[in-house]
Amino acid sequence: SNRRVLTDAGSSDPLQWFAQAQQSITVNFKELLEIIDYSDTLIKGSGELIAMSECQQKVTEHRQKVCRVMEVLARDHMKVAFFGVTLSGKSTAINAMLSEKVLPFGMGHRTNCILQIEGSDSENGYVLTEREPDTPKSIEQLEISIKKLADALKNNESNFVRILFPKTKCRLLREGVVLVEGPGIGVTTELNLWLDKFCLDADVFVLVSDAVATLTQTEKNFFQKVSERLSSTNIFVLLNRWDQSVFEDDVAEVREQHIDRHLEFLYQELNGMDRDKGLERIFFVSAKEALSTRLVEKGEERAKAQLPGQEERHIRFCNFERALEECMSQTAVKTKFERNNNLGKSITTENCALVKDILKSIRQHIDRMRFDRNEMAKHLDFMERQLTMFKCEFKYKITKTVAGVCTEIAKMLTDEINR
Ligand code: GTP
Repeated sequence: SNRRVLTDAGSSDPLQWFAQAQQSITVNFKELLEIIDYSDTLIKGSGELIAMSECQQKVTEHRQKVCRVMEVLARDHMKVAFFGVTLSGKSTAINAMLSEKVLPFGMGHRTNCILQIEGSDSENGYVLTEREPDTPKSIEQLEISIKKLADALKNNESNFVRILFPKTKCRLLREGVVLVEGPGIGVTTELNLWLDKFCLDADVFVLVSDAVATLTQTEKNFFQKVSERLSSTNIFVLLNRWDQSVFEDDVAEVREQHIDRHLEFLYQELNGMDRDKGLERIFFVSAKEALSTRLVEKGEERAKAQLPGQEERHIRFCNFERALEECMSQTAVKTKFERNNNLGKSITTENCALVKDILKSIRQHIDRMRFDRNEMAKHLDFMERQLTMFKCEFKYKITKTVAGVCTEIAKMLTDEINR
């Protein structure tokens, strides 16, 4: 069903795949809830014909499971986690993707602070810290004092900051994407904490690397650590600051070196990633230029003098975003909806079996009773046919018909029993 959503969606925007699948599965669960309600009606109406309490208990269990899934579905989002050395350009890359200066950048020393950016329906946006999760602070406060905030949090365990930014201002946030910026490389304990606590449910990871500097031993150790903890092969590499390569003489050589080192990380350390796939995951970009181009387009910044190759670097940044969105949306649909979809199918099957048992008891009862058998049997046959169809797939278009028959039979039985 998820696969069908993806191919039938016809949307050229990969982020929409997730939204459409979320909408579709939510509708299915709402309809499943409806059929559960009607099986309840049928049980109640059947009076003493069936083992009421046992059936009732099953229906209650089904309803609880469905309600729990619906809660999770409503909260589900796509998550992308950024990691890399301090000052490699993580904040700038996130801002470029959001086309907004959401995160203050260029301050460094934010190693202890984990930032999560999510969409908010409020007009102004706000900030929440782990320590005071119920005390919203204004975004302006964050912009002025992110460094202070990070320093203040340095000696606490509560170094997680949620930034709730208006959805209306950013397409990514509007479509349900959550972005996390991890601590800089070199602070091992925090890194482990970050990976375990905030990244286990990430759909995609982005390593932001400084393309001008050579790979350090700390960075290599860091890669090792990441590979030990991450099982995901959904990793993208942004070789950032590539604008600075125009000042280098041996650009081609540097480029090859970076490709070799990062491919080693992608396909040897995170075993499973083959070379060709790895090459599709490495992008030589300039987050700073990408952000600036977008702010100029929005009229929020004046155009500056361009370095040679800026347009190509921007195209590569756009290609990176497209590849990341496709990968993220597909992964999120698969990991977040497939299990629930299967659970929905199994509840449907169980519920159908339960209703079938009830119908069997009713049929036996009808055979023993004197009232209009033909009329009753007609309803039952119809309902049994509907139930068989209903079980075929996790699509509840016929719910209302089945439910209508259930109610009708339940009413007739109640009337008959009361007569
Ligand atoms: P921390 O969060 O402090 O670890 O830093 P960060 O990785 O988030 O880096 P940030 O985005 O704050 O950028 C650090 C500095 O690098 C800032 O002064 C940016 O303007 C600059 N910078 C970021 N991306 C680029 C780029 O593509 N090219 C150039 N030339 N400078 C960049």
